Amino acid sequence: MATVKDKLIEHVMKEEPTGPQNKVTVVGVGMVGMACAISVLMKELADELALVDVIEDKLKGEMMDLQHGGLFLRTPKIVADKDYSVTANSKVVVVTAGARQQEGESRLNLVQRNVNIFKFIIPNIVKYSPNCIILVVSNPVDILTYVAWKLSGFPRHRVIGSGCNLDSARFRYLMGERLNLHPSSCHGWVIGEHGDSSVPVWSGVNVAGVSLQTLNPTLGTDKDQENWKEVHKQVVDSAYEVIKLKGYTSWAIGMSVADLVETIMKNLRKVHPVSTLVKGMHGIKDEVFLSVPCVLGNSGLSDVVKMTLKTEEEDQLRKSADTLWGVQKELKL
Ligand SMILES: NC(=O)c1ccc[n+]([C@@H]2O[C@H](COP(=O)([O-])OP(=O)(O)OC[C@H]3O[C@@H](n4cnc5c(N)ncnc54)[C@H](O)[C@@H]3O)[C@@H](O)[C@H]2O)c1
Repeated sequence: MATVKDKLIEHVMKEEPTGPQNKVTVVGVGMVGMACAISVLMKELADELALVDVIEDKLKGEMMDLQHGGLFLRTPKIVADKDYSVTANSKVVVVTAGARQQEGESRLNLVQRNVNIFKFIIPNIVKYSPNCIILVVSNPVDILTYVAWKLSGFPRHRVIGSGCNLDSARFRYLMGERLNLHPSSCHGWVIGEHGDSSVPVWSGVNVAGVSLQTLNPTLGTDKDQENWKEVHKQVVDSAYEVIKLKGYTSWAIGMSVADLVETIMKNLRKVHPVSTLVKGMHGIKDEVFLSVPCVLGNSGLSDVVKMTLKTEEEDQLRKSADTLWGVQKELKL
């Protein structure tokens, strides 16, 4: 008997199976993973979105909830499974999975626990999307990007850490608040290690090419009467503050990740402060990942902008590099 579908629709061609052209996967459907997922969907960056997690009920629930918004989206296929075959042929894989620090647990111990999680995740990503770009968000992001690079066997240009992309966005927002300008007109780069030891490059802070340091030579120093240094302190404190208030951070990291995914998927060649292998740069000798301004596009991270840094800024980068290497060399990969 002819179904309603048969009566309604005349099929006029033999369907050729075509795979996804612009697939994005998000691994880890926690607060950060789902903020990344919704931001990627709202920006219409993917024709297919895959989600992976180890908690099957939560995973299916999140998938269904997004699918029910299909009417309002331009991403026709949203899939989820704990089996990585669901991620096959992804262009970009965003990794947000990770254990959270437990009370009394040392940072190093957390790192090793997340390394153990990555030992499962990364080979599975590689198996199903051997040409993808891996974007690591899980913390400590600089170390875990190194770990993902090692475990994947990918060239350095295809393993990127979200790094100081969020720190720089926070800096530009806070600068905009001081100047009553949109953050996109406030230029400033926070580089180095994501979090407490990040480095604000005061010499480059500008609006419309007008250097704030030229207007105020004490900018960013303790001598500065306007205390612009506070802007960077607020950047460092903001994650702690948001976590204290709402338990986690999600929206800003989600939007900042979607901005990176957009640059990659659309081959925009925009420059972002993201974490990359910096061995050989700024006097760094070890295999560590830190944020520097990087050109992103279809093939991943193709170039690094060579910043003119002050001695103290380079010293801070080398100090972070030493700390990271100290942790990395103890890891069991
Ligand atoms: N880089 C940044 O700027 C930035 C900003 C905010 C948060 N983060 C980091 O992002 C990570 C996630 O944060 P969150 O708030 O979403 O945590 P969360 O606890 O809400 O979510 C983590 C998710 O990972 C999943 N997971 C655990 N092991 C897994 C595995 N083996 N495979 C797949 N999924 C697995 C968990 O089931 C959970 O759903 C944390 O490491 C956090 O520190 C980074």
